[in-house]
Formats: sequence, structure tokens, C-alpha cells
Amino acid sequence: MQATSSVRAQCLQAQSPCRPAAAAGGRARHGPMQPMRAAAAEGELVDDTGFKPASSMRRGVKKAAKETILTPRFYTTDFDEVDEMFSLERNPDLPMEELTAMLAEMRRDYNQKHFVRSEVFHEAAAAIQGSLRRTLVEFLERSCTAEFSGFLLYKELGRRLRGANPTLAELFSLVARDEARHAGFLNKALGDFGLALDLGFLTKHRSYTFFRPKFILYATCIAEKIGYRRFITMYRHLQRDPDHQLHPLFEFFENWCQDESRHGDFLAAVLKARPELLRGLEARLWSRFFCLSVYITMYLNDHQRPGLYQALGLDTTQFDRHVILETNAAAARILPEVPNVGAPGFWPAMDRLVQYNAKLLEIDGWEGPELLKKLRKAPYMERTVAECVRLFVGPAIRCGSLDIEGAGSYQY
Ligand SMILES: [Fe+2]
Ligand SMILES: [Fe+2]
Repeated sequence: MQATSSVRAQCLQAQSPCRPAAAAGGRARHGPMQPMRAAAAEGELVDDTGFKPASSMRRGVKKAAKETILTPRFYTTDFDEVDEMFSLERNPDLPMEELTAMLAEMRRDYNQKHFVRSEVFHEAAAAIQGSLRRTLVEFLERSCTAEFSGFLLYKELGRRLRGANPTLAELFSLVARDEARHAGFLNKALGDFGLALDLGFLTKHRSYTFFRPKFILYATCIAEKIGYRRFITMYRHLQRDPDHQLHPLFEFFENWCQDESRHGDFLAAVLKARPELLRGLEARLWSRFFCLSVYITMYLNDHQRPGLYQALGLDTTQFDRHVILETNAAAARILPEVPNVGAPGFWPAMDRLVQYNAKLLEIDGWEGPELLKKLRKAPYMERTVAECVRLFVGPAIRCGSLDIEGAGSYQY
């Protein structure tokens, strides 16, 4: 399906499959947030995207999107602890069968020749104007950053585990290979709009959020699973409704999401290799927490930019609810506990979070003194936290992988 001039101009934004939940907390390291740079191709201007060039930078370099709790982040972890958890020398009984089988699968590299661009991309970018152009650029930037964030984390895990567990190390490196491919593909699509992210600059200057290894595993496993579900849902919808195919990028989602599906299965196998992460009260609470963090982050992000879904012929709320229901069912096959997203109060609570987030954004955009802004925001922040706590202590479902002794059976 080609993107044509009949493209319906609206907006675009999606959650990345490749990152831990932005809302899940964690400690920032490596200094303050630096401007994200996007270099314009020679001779091209970025004015038509509506982005303001940074005054201290050359033309074609845009100001960073403001970093908030919902923006894609870069992650780091305690690599010594990872080594401790997965070293074959220290853990001679570490179950490696599933991971060894996955290595053979990942080495096949099914999508090696999938991400091949054609001239249609450039033509599609030229045809997209107005508000859609700006939103599409924002979507590409966010998605590229998130894919690249996954690449950096997995690459480093692969590098650090090389001596301790070569199979796991190679698997992480192969997942990093996929994420680098995804990020590169998105960055080239961004290039059609006269912009390209300076990924080297981002690597050095973006702040890194620290998570302990087990939290990285919970969060990435759920993030990969939700990424798969988002992509396949969009792809199937656009197959049924090709008039809403905004950009040729969406045609690549079917194979792309298979990568994400393999990544989710891989991370589930890593969790299963350390069964203590999948049983017991602590594991159940963390599983519930990370599921909710990922779902809430996506729900708020998407409702913040509903134009994307309108442009794709989708209803944001319906789309997100479908994705969360399906992801929760998938997560229930591995994690020991998931939130009961079918409980009567669940969606009303999520919708209240959307309302509070809209209020917070409205106040953020207000030109008044910072102190006053903070005071105006306080009640909405308080309500947001209270709502998140209510969701966390709300109904949950005991579930889990049948491979793990003592795990709850799948009853979703
Ligand atoms: Fe992924
Ligand atoms: Fe990816």
C-alpha cells in the first residue's frame, strides 16, 4: 500500500515496544537532560514541521522535546548483579534449554532483508503537510529514541555477559541488532522530513535512569509485549481500512512486530531462568506494578496525542483498551500476578488519570510564574498519585507460567 496525497492529515504517536515503562520510576544518572539534536539534511529546512531551531545551534537543529515522566528514556542497570544472576559458573543449574533454542531462532534473522526503503517514503513525506507533518515527525523522533534506548541497553547487556554466559550474551546482542535496525529505519524516515537524530550525541548526553536488573527484566518484557500488540493491531486495522494508511512505515509493522514478539518471548525466558522473579509475594507485587506502569504510560501518552488514532481511523480509547486487554492476557502467561483490567473500576480510574494529565499539561502551558504553576498543579498531582495507588491496590489476578513450580494457573 502506498501513501498517497490523499493522506488524511492528522497526528501520529505510538508507544515504543523497546523500553521499560517511563512512569515506573528509577534514578536518573549522568547529569541533566541535554537538548536532543536532529540534524537537517543539507539544504533542507525544518520550518515546515513547526519546530523551533535552538538559538545556540545551527539551522536544522531542533530543540529537544521536553523530557517528562512519559517520554522515552535511556536505562542502565547494575551489570555486576546481572553477572551474578546469570553467570554459568556461579549458577551451574541455570536452566538454559529455552534460551539455547531461542538463540538458534534469533540467529536466523528473519527480518534481515525486511527493512528496505523505497522512493515511496520520500514521496509520502513530501505529501504530508500541516499538523500531521509535525506530529509525524514527533512520532518518528519518539519512536526512534525509544528503539535506540532499547538498543543501547541490550547491547551493553550483551557485552557485559560475554564471559559469564555466552548464550545469553549473544541473545542480548541479537535483540540489540533488531533494535538498531528499527531505530535506523525510523531515523531514515525522519530524514525524509529533513531531520535526523544525532544518535551519537544522544548516547553521550541523554540522562540515564537506573533500574535494578530484575526491574529491567519485568519492564522490558511487558514493554516488548505491549509493543507487539500495538503494531499488530495497527497493521491489521490498516489492512482492513487501507484508506487510512498514512505512511509506508505502517506496512512494515507485520514483520516488525514479529521481532518484538520474539523479544518479549526472550525476556520471558530470561525471567523463567530465575524463577524466584516469578513467584512469591514480592514478585507478584512488582509484576502488578510494572504492568500498571506500562499501561498507564501508554494510556496517557496516547490520549495526549489522539490525532494519530483519528488519522489512522482508530478510536484512541478503544485501541488502547484492546491493546491493554491483550497485553495483560499475554503477561498473565508469564508473570505471577497482573492487574484485573476487567474489574469495574479499572477504566474509570484510567480515564480520570487522563483528565488529570490534561489538566497538568494545560497548567504547564500557562505563562505564569513557576511557583504559581506548581501550586496549581499540586492538587492534580495528588489526585494522580492517589489514583495510581488505588489501581495498584485494586483487584488483581493470580496467574503465571505453568513452567514455574508454585505459580498460579492461568485463569484470565
Ligand atoms: Fe523490541
Ligand atoms: Fe524494536
